[in-house]
Amino acid sequence: MSKKIEGFSKLTKAEKINWVAETHGENPSAFKATLETYNHSNPEVQKIHDEFIENTLTNHYLPLGVAPNFLIDGKWYTIPMAIEESSVVAAASKAAKFWSTKGGFKTEVLGTEKVGQIHLNYYGPTEKLNRFFDENTSRFLNELSSITESMERRGGGIQSVQLIDKTNALEGYYQIDLRFETADAMGANFINTCLETLAKSFTNAATLTFEADELPEVVMSILSNYVPNCLVRASVSTPIEQLGVNQLDAQSYAKKFVRAVNIAREEPYRAVTHNKGIMNGVDAVIIATGNDFRAVEAGVHAYASRDGKYRSLSQAKIEKDTLHFWLDIPLALGTVGGLTSLHPLVKRSLEILDKPSAKELMRIVAVAGLAQNFAAVNSLVTTGIQKGHMKMHLLNLLSALGANEHEKQIISKQFSEQTVTNSAVKEALTKLRDGH
Ligand code: MEV
Repeated sequence: MSKKIEGFSKLTKAEKINWVAETHGENPSAFKATLETYNHSNPEVQKIHDEFIENTLTNHYLPLGVAPNFLIDGKWYTIPMAIEESSVVAAASKAAKFWSTKGGFKTEVLGTEKVGQIHLNYYGPTEKLNRFFDENTSRFLNELSSITESMERRGGGIQSVQLIDKTNALEGYYQIDLRFETADAMGANFINTCLETLAKSFTNAATLTFEADELPEVVMSILSNYVPNCLVRASVSTPIEQLGVNQLDAQSYAKKFVRAVNIAREEPYRAVTHNKGIMNGVDAVIIATGNDFRAVEAGVHAYASRDGKYRSLSQAKIEKDTLHFWLDIPLALGTVGGLTSLHPLVKRSLEILDKPSAKELMRIVAVAGLAQNFAAVNSLVTTGIQKGHMKMHLLNLLSALGANEHEKQIISKQFSEQTVTNSAVKEALTKLRDGH
């Protein structure tokens, strides 16, 4: 079959599956069977998933687990995590337990401001545009009132509107910068609707004021995923003597830990991996709770390089024999709207978290990131990460080698004291099957 197709989106789901299987499957019937297996047996549930996107063939599953025993601001949480990487949930659970005996995690929401921009071209005199904007701002906002009303009832709305001259960056470039509060919604739809409506009002009014050759032009209107003022801090601290760590004595452990974090503050190659470890925890909770992990990722990494150099998001210090470890992270999250009321598992994940507000979810997600970061850096400065990682990975290796449950049990026991490598596991399985 040709690999090029016209009108694919108009085919029925069965026809789409058929075309993909016949065109791309090495064994089309086995290919179709796999897609079918991953389609939900309940057609109503499947319909929900089919309608999330276009051209749905089946579902792509991630495991959903929980990390219990998180003590956050004096309240116990069980945190849902959707992630495929072995050892992330185990590490989170271990870090949760460790810090729960040391006062738990503390958090502070430092801001909840979201940003939207209307990007303009204008080549006339700046004062004329400024005057026009000042004279019309309240009218623009009035024309938005039917959209902002219900958000205002929920405590949100537009906080500020400003015209910014950006001509130093780009000739003829101006911007209408809007700041929003969006209560418990992530707010993307609300913000973009406000922006597009305001852009229309702006263009209509401008047409009546400016000559055609000076008319300001709207290039685009869109929210920004850079949210440096939608920020949350998660922290832990403990007297060093209570660290109770293995191998190294507590003082040298704490110093090495802080050193590792400082290296990630200064060295971008390390910072990226360090922050990746943070995002292991962050993304897992974001996905479980139906939030947009691409938006969060983009905003987080921009924030990590806000002073011109990419740095670790977390920081650590020793002060008066106490180890302090904290993370500031921008998180624009929602607990209403979007997937939150549509995806059955997202609803359950929010239920596991006792239906948090968006602010509370910011706190929880930041803690998951800090816990994950602690677990990774702790392993790195003590045993190295491969020991724990490969132990968890052992089951994946055994599954890939086609081991049955009995074989998995025997070999897992065998490797409790032995280093896990691909070849060693293969050899152990072969030996077991040969009757050694
Ligand atoms: C692996 O997914 C994450 C780590 O590499 C993070 C880190 O190095 O800090 C272990």
